[in-house]
Amino acid sequence: MVRVGKLKDNVYQIRVIDKGTRHFHGSIFPVAEGASYNCYLVLDEQITLIDTVEEKYFPEVFEAVKDILAGKKIDNLIVNHVEPDHSGSFECFTREFPKAKVYTSKAGVRGMQRNYFDEHEYNEVGFGDEIKTGKYTLAFAETPLVHWPDNMWTFLKEEKLLFSNDAFGQLLVDDVLYDEEIDKERVLKFSREYYANIVWPCNKNVEDVLNKLPEINWDFDMIAPSHGVVIKGYLPDMVQQYQNFVKAETKKDKVLIVYETVWGNTHKMADIIEKELLAEGFDVKKYHIFESRVSEIIDEMIDTEFLFIGTSNHNNCVLPPVADFVERLMSSRFYDRKAIVFGSYGWAGIMPFKDLEERMEKANFEIAADSITLNYKPNDEDKKNIRKIVANLRLK
Ligand code: FEO
Repeated sequence: MVRVGKLKDNVYQIRVIDKGTRHFHGSIFPVAEGASYNCYLVLDEQITLIDTVEEKYFPEVFEAVKDILAGKKIDNLIVNHVEPDHSGSFECFTREFPKAKVYTSKAGVRGMQRNYFDEHEYNEVGFGDEIKTGKYTLAFAETPLVHWPDNMWTFLKEEKLLFSNDAFGQLLVDDVLYDEEIDKERVLKFSREYYANIVWPCNKNVEDVLNKLPEINWDFDMIAPSHGVVIKGYLPDMVQQYQNFVKAETKKDKVLIVYETVWGNTHKMADIIEKELLAEGFDVKKYHIFESRVSEIIDEMIDTEFLFIGTSNHNNCVLPPVADFVERLMSSRFYDRKAIVFGSYGWAGIMPFKDLEERMEKANFEIAADSITLNYKPNDEDKKNIRKIVANLRLK
């Protein structure tokens, strides 16, 4: 469905709410409730469209845009981000409004030329540049790597309104315009999951951007991201949450157990590790990969220092879901994290555990202790061994 919301007298949000999808960003970000995508229309002497949506949503979005335009034309197209969830309808809009001027960052120009048509005229804008659309001023700031090198923010000065694209986005599908119409914890939780899965790999760049922004002194009281609800009532909480992300602090007593199993023995080990960790006072979250949403695990990794990662021996290899998960860890670029490998082997031996340790090191994890391995199912001696390792963990 497409939802139209009026933020100001002359500013509209056009929002796609797709409750049917279970994947965002191809298949790498499984979503529990669906996804949402926003673009914004600013009416002035010149009419400006800020961002578009995925091409498949264009027909519905265009109907909504035409209703608001009431026969007028779009004069300016702002591309805050080249990624197709925000620029996918660009060609469709330029076909409808061929005289519209296109504004994007320097990296955005390169991306648009490669992704769409290179003969199109793009107007490059940079940090602090402005355009006048009549009574309104649109200012720009490049925000490289929040989430791609081309990302930028647009600021509608007279309305104190920031169009932040991916930043502060969330995949909420609630049929509301503003954050304060729903529970604060829900908004922050969805924002965090989006950040963890989309923006976190560039966490250090986000810090650079947040540090540089005071130079342009934008005094915004509302954030209009290109995913989810508009941030208004919870603005201080949302900004604080981003400041906390860049600090990258972990909870020392939080541990994740992530594993896959064939005949249930590695699963039994995960249960024993969980029980011992809880007895030692750790905050534990356990995920059987096959039965979990990987995006939820990546979200939990943001503030987790310790990870127990388990696999069975599968023909002397790491189980594919575990190998796949470690690739996700690698692309997430976590730092200052520790891991302990565990798992059960049957007739084949312990080779995969060494392999998994090496993979974890490549994913930037320090191996905190020798792998916990056992033959077939855990016996009393194995349980004692696990207890000892867990008891030592707090001392590290
Ligand atoms: Fe929502 Fe980087 O795209």
